[in-house]
Formats: sequence, structure tokens, C-alpha cells
Amino acid sequence: MNYQYGNREFSITRYPSSTNKSLTAWNAADEYILKYIDENKTNTKDILIYNDRFGFLSLFLSESKPKAIIESKSQEKAINQNLISNNVELKNFEFLTPFQDLKLSVETIIIKVPKSAELFRFYLEHLSEVLTANSVVICGFMTKYFTPQILEIANKYFELAEQTLALKKSRLLILKNPKKTTKASIINEIKLNDKISLKQYSSVFSSKNIDYATQFLIDNINLKETDKKVLDLGSGNGVLACVIKGKNENCEIHLLDDSLLAIESSKLNISGENIHFHYNDNLKEFDDNYFDFIVSNPPFHFEHETNIEIAISLFEEAVRCLKRDGHLQLVANKHLNYKTHLIKIFENVEITAENEKFVIYDCFF
Ligand SMILES: C[S@@+](CC[C@H](N)C(=O)[O-])C[C@H]1O[C@@H](n2cnc3c(N)ncnc32)[C@H](O)[C@@H]1O
Repeated sequence: MNYQYGNREFSITRYPSSTNKSLTAWNAADEYILKYIDENKTNTKDILIYNDRFGFLSLFLSESKPKAIIESKSQEKAINQNLISNNVELKNFEFLTPFQDLKLSVETIIIKVPKSAELFRFYLEHLSEVLTANSVVICGFMTKYFTPQILEIANKYFELAEQTLALKKSRLLILKNPKKTTKASIINEIKLNDKISLKQYSSVFSSKNIDYATQFLIDNINLKETDKKVLDLGSGNGVLACVIKGKNENCEIHLLDDSLLAIESSKLNISGENIHFHYNDNLKEFDDNYFDFIVSNPPFHFEHETNIEIAISLFEEAVRCLKRDGHLQLVANKHLNYKTHLIKIFENVEITAENEKFVIYDCFF
């Protein structure tokens, strides 16, 4: 889809793409941020952008050679794809992870407020090192997603946190005058059982307790004696991999997640010669017929959108990576009715457990 602002026009697409054509690669909050920068003649010389999901802001601010903080592999791919297709010089960009020190001070910071308030806190913590007295942080969000927690977190880091008027159901939160704060802990610890505690960056999935669906899958996990090579697909903090390791120390276990914070969290919980981490959003790096067992509590949210397309495409890829006598086990919310999709991908789909909310499927050939 094309978007024009002033005399510039770019074509911006989503990655991963979606069959739902109502989903766009930007929203009114992105447009509001551009308008604010123009109208306030904001200094864009050293600009830092957080959570630019598909690259809308990176494209329109490309002349300022922005630095983009990238938290997921799919985000990195989306931004790259849009820069390349619009013939924008990649060397004008610097992609950094939220684990890299920013080193130089920065005057203008843009944050597209993420769904996870904890991730917002993580971003403010990350950038607190490089703020100067003149720094301005422009946070954009759709009004319906605003929570008091966002303001609470902002007030912890800044003397001034002012909201603009709403424009097309979006709003900006402008943060000025950074406070001197002591480093906050961004790692949580939760108990899996009497023996195992799990650590994770607080923005990673289910950071306050073991997710109900995950627990149900753990209680019904179908690791066979012959399952030697295992993939924890969408591994989060690595909880399923830890359970598998607990059942069979000799398994070769691979953990794959699109989120860098998730992969880094799982490294805090599991290690060993047989343990392999993959920061990626697909299964392309794995050989055909490689795994005996793939286990997953798959993603079904993409920020504020409910979207099972990503999970379905991961299962389609899983078919290639599984041995012919291998199997995929997953847990899903009952209302998502995964069976209708899974029977198009696997020859056999069995419901091995269910309760009032969740279903566990075992899929094989
Ligand atoms: C429902 S959570 C499950 C996390 C963990 N397995 C658990 O049970 O606590 C789904 C995970 O899938 C990850 N994810 C989302 N899209 C993905 C993709 N395309 N490829 C791999 N992982 C993805 C998310 O980052 C998230 O960590």
C-alpha cells in the first residue's frame, strides 16, 4: 500500500503478509508522529526509533539516518524488505538490538508503544543511559490501547509526561526532562515446580506465572522414548525445552523464537552441548526430515491483532522438518478451532487431551 506525506511517497507492505486485507502496515499513530515532528521542527539529527513494526517511520525518516532498535527477526525482515523495495540506501540505517549499548547521547527518540507495558518499561530503561536534558521522547499509540500503566512507567523515568489531543483515534505522549533513576530489574523469576525456577525478561510471554495452556501441555506432553531430536517451536522462556530435558537428558533440543528477548531469556534457563538456540521466525534453517518431535504453544497474537496465520504457516513448515514417523504436539484455545486447519496439513490429527478452555493435538503422518 502506498502512503504519501508531503512530497514523499512510499509503498509499505507487511511481513509476514496476511490474507486479512484490512490489516495495514502502519496506523494513525505513525502518521501523527510524522506530523508532530514536522510541526514542532523536532531535531531529527540523531534519531532513535523503537518498535517501528514494519518500517513506516524508518522510511519517512530515512534522510535522518535513524537507528532502529529491533526486537524480533520478523521486524528486521519487514523493515529491510520495505527499505529495499523503496530503493532506500540500507547503509543509512543502523539496526541495534535492545541489548546493545547506545553509546552516544540522542536527542530525539520515537517509541511506537508496544502492547506489552513491560516492553515499554524495557525500552525506557534501555534508553535512559543516553538521554540528555534536551532529549524528547515521542510515544505514539492508538487511544483504545492506552493503559494507565504506560503513564505510570513514563512518570517513573521523566519529570514531564504530557499527552497530546487525539487525532484519528491516536495520541502522543511526549516525555521530557529525564529523571535520575537507579537501574530497575528487568528480569523476573517464576517457579515451574519445586526444583525448577525460570528466569526471563519481564516483557516475554507469561512472565508472572506459567501460562495455563503451557501448563496443560506440560501435564500431557507426549515425549516418546524414540524422540531424540526435538524442536520447541515459539520457545519463549524455554519452559517446554526445560521440561523435555528433565524427561530425557540425552535429547538434542532446539529452541526457536522470533523474539530476541525470548531467546535471551531461554539462555538463562537451559544450556548444554545438546541445546541449540535459533533466533528466527521460520524453520528454513532446518534440514528436511530432521525432528522426531516438535512441541508448541503457538503464537496467536500479533501485537493487538488475533492472528493464527503465523502459527499455521509454522505448522506447514514443520511437515518438511519432521521425520515420517515424527509428530507435532500443540496446545490451543478451544475457540480457535485449529483442527479444521491441521487436518489440511497432517494426515492424522488426534485430540489427546482437552479441558474447558484448551485442546491438545498430536499430529502425525
Ligand atoms: C504463546 S507463546 C509460548 C511461549 C512458550 N513456549 C511458553 O509456552 O511459555 C508463543 C511464542 O511464539 C513466539 N513467536 C511468534 N511468532 C513466531 C514465529 N514466526 N516464529 C517463532 N516464534 C514465534 C513468540 O515470541 C512467543 O514467545
